Amino acid sequence: MLGNFSYKNATKLYFGDDSLKYLNDELPKYGKTVQLIYGGGSVKRNGIYDAVVDILKSNGKNIVEDGGVMPNPTADKLREGVQIARENKVDLLLAMGGGSCCDYAKAVSVSVNCDDDPWEKYYIRFEEPDCELIPVACILTMAGTGSEMNAGSVITNHDQKLKIGHVFGEEVMPKFSILNPKFTMSLPKRQMVAGIYDIFNHICEQYFSGEDDNTSDYIAEALMKSVIHSSLIAVENPEDYEARSNIMWTATWALNTLIACGKETDWMVHMLGQAVGAITDATHGMTLAAVSLPYYKMIMPYGLPKFVRFATEVWGVDPNGKTDEQIACDGLAAMEAWMKQIGVTMNITDLGADESMIEAIADATIILDGGYKQLTRDDVVTVLKASL
Ligand code: NZQ
Ligand code: ZN
Repeated sequence: MLGNFSYKNATKLYFGDDSLKYLNDELPKYGKTVQLIYGGGSVKRNGIYDAVVDILKSNGKNIVEDGGVMPNPTADKLREGVQIARENKVDLLLAMGGGSCCDYAKAVSVSVNCDDDPWEKYYIRFEEPDCELIPVACILTMAGTGSEMNAGSVITNHDQKLKIGHVFGEEVMPKFSILNPKFTMSLPKRQMVAGIYDIFNHICEQYFSGEDDNTSDYIAEALMKSVIHSSLIAVENPEDYEARSNIMWTATWALNTLIACGKETDWMVHMLGQAVGAITDATHGMTLAAVSLPYYKMIMPYGLPKFVRFATEVWGVDPNGKTDEQIACDGLAAMEAWMKQIGVTMNITDLGADESMIEAIADATIILDGGYKQLTRDDVVTVLKASL
């Protein structure tokens, strides 16, 4: 049965190869001072920074620089961003980049007018914002996380060896996001592929839960088929605008709250991947890829009907003459073949982990109960060892 829910998505999107011009329509709605958030410099090399700065200047904005947001943004960098926003009394947090910049902007937003330490308040105590927020907007340069249209924000604390996400309320979602598929064309192939797997896994996390007849699962299957199809084109020809635009749009729909409506969700691959990331600082999508198959093989017997459906509906496995177990295994084998074909990292050893880190990764793994089997700590260790 479809559960009860309320649904609203607060983010306005501008999509397409001319979408940056709509920044001119949005900027007049906000005050004069803009904190311009970006990463390690890709936006300076590919020209996006200059194009955005020109638009900000022509709209009479004061620009406050906040570059150097690292992939997997840290609690220390967050505290720095909060300081910048406070000192300059900024009116808009404008993130240019991937999920890291967008997540970071949201974390700054909820922390500027708050006395507590942001890491402790939001990522340890999981409190909700109780202070005035600063609006966030995003100019997306990497497709994957869905951060451009959701309220998620993931922060890493290297001292505490933790990487934790907080899903805030709709008031924290970007007010608007600009999605120009051409802006993703300068991504190194490895990052493009990591983003593709991240998209696919977001859909899996919401699909592999519950056994009811649910509209969301049909949407999820369509999104999976779209991203599989476009990924194969994009890895052959990264310049293919049609494939890159479909990937970008699928990323948004994979995690903008829609397909989670009325159903349980799993998110254990993300919990395992985030723990791997907390210890190794590896690329998010690759951490998910490295642990996925051992995890899905472990839970498959507990959610067999859905794994059978996944095999036949998503991967086109012929069920004739096979047991349900064989059909489900063939589905996972098809998924594995696709993962290898697009070139994701298939084990955590290649991400810098080794046997001596397993206990620390297991310690950093938050165990959730929405999936087909609630893992024990021993199960977590088993999955991690099988991922080496
Ligand atoms: O820092 P720069 O120089 O910009 O380079 C970045 C970075 O090194 C580069 N890049 C991005 N766009 C580029 C580009 N390089 C060339 N051309 C471009 N157009 O790509 C690298 C990775 O960027 P990052 O933003 O870190 O990647 P992603 O979008 O995958 O974001 C990862 C972060 O988002 C979190 C992850 O945990 C991780 O911290 N997530 C956020 C979620 C959410 N808000 O809902 C959900 C996700 O599951 C995820 O956990
Ligand atoms: Zn993800």
